[in-house]
Amino acid sequence: MSNLNKIALEIISNGKGILAADESTGTMTKRLESVGVSSTSENRLSFRNILFSSSCMKKYIGGVILYDETIRQLYNNIKIPEIISNMGSHPGIKVDTGAKVLAGSREEKITEGLDGLRDRLKEYHSLGAKFTKWRGVYIISEKYPSKLSIVSNAHALARYSAIVQECNMVPIVEPEVLMDGNHSANDCLKKTTEVIKKCFDELILHNVDLSGIILKPNMILPGNNSKKKISNKEVAYLTIECLKNSVPPEVPGIAFLSGGQSEIEATENLNLINKNNNTKFIMTFSYGRALQQSALKYWSTNPDDISGTQKVFNHRAEMNSLAAQGKWSNQLENK
Ligand code: 13P
Repeated sequence: MSNLNKIALEIISNGKGILAADESTGTMTKRLESVGVSSTSENRLSFRNILFSSSCMKKYIGGVILYDETIRQLYNNIKIPEIISNMGSHPGIKVDTGAKVLAGSREEKITEGLDGLRDRLKEYHSLGAKFTKWRGVYIISEKYPSKLSIVSNAHALARYSAIVQECNMVPIVEPEVLMDGNHSANDCLKKTTEVIKKCFDELILHNVDLSGIILKPNMILPGNNSKKKISNKEVAYLTIECLKNSVPPEVPGIAFLSGGQSEIEATENLNLINKNNNTKFIMTFSYGRALQQSALKYWSTNPDDISGTQKVFNHRAEMNSLAAQGKWSNQLENK
């Protein structure tokens, strides 16, 4: 077993998943202000540190994705990556520098951050990072994602992954087909399959060790403005179909993004995916909003109640861990 494969498995095995806490300062500001908290560096750190020092970290969270600001911060004189490793979890870092307008297809985006990446990675590794994340974004409509967006984002994801492995870290490969729009679940299935297949073509071309990556895709869902809703069971079925047809068997596991689903929806869908998982892939969570929303809401009205906030976060993490094993139920959710 290669070292990268070992780290990938430590992050996602045994019902563990990933806490995505790598919101950029702009995104985190929106999240904090939406619950009436001002977005100071101190507030961002306080909330995140409450999560990182929760008891659920030991049992249910195999990795935490950090943002550049957070990986450099200290809490009570202890470095944040150290707080995370002391909980038995792996610190990770978002290394792309964001999605910018894609020249040649102005409605779409290309993720940037390859220039100088090797040097930044060496520094992140020395700060304790064991894995990294890069997110490509794709929009859906009749003509999108365009071939240009599919090819150029796949190329960037592959170049990123190759450099990350060279620096001895596990790359999370995140091609996110956005939920925005009125497309059907079948459109999402078709386009997501095409997007993921192209990513693997490029990863193979760039000699990336597929046993040392984690794929972070969207689930197969109808657009958020679609009139044709489908059942959670159908979401699970279509998501498994998509991954069966697009992911090579060497990949150890898949950690889904929540992408705007509610907390319960994201848990219920992951649970059904695992109940019906007839692949060899581990299927778990790498949620941002769907792990943090309730905890953030609680904390915003009870800023001094650290253990109360942690209780809310512990519950969400436990429910998603159960879902990652196909053992979640409504009764357990509400007990
Ligand atoms: P959400 O689960 O909120 O979609 O965030 C996951 C993530 O890391 C997006 O890049």
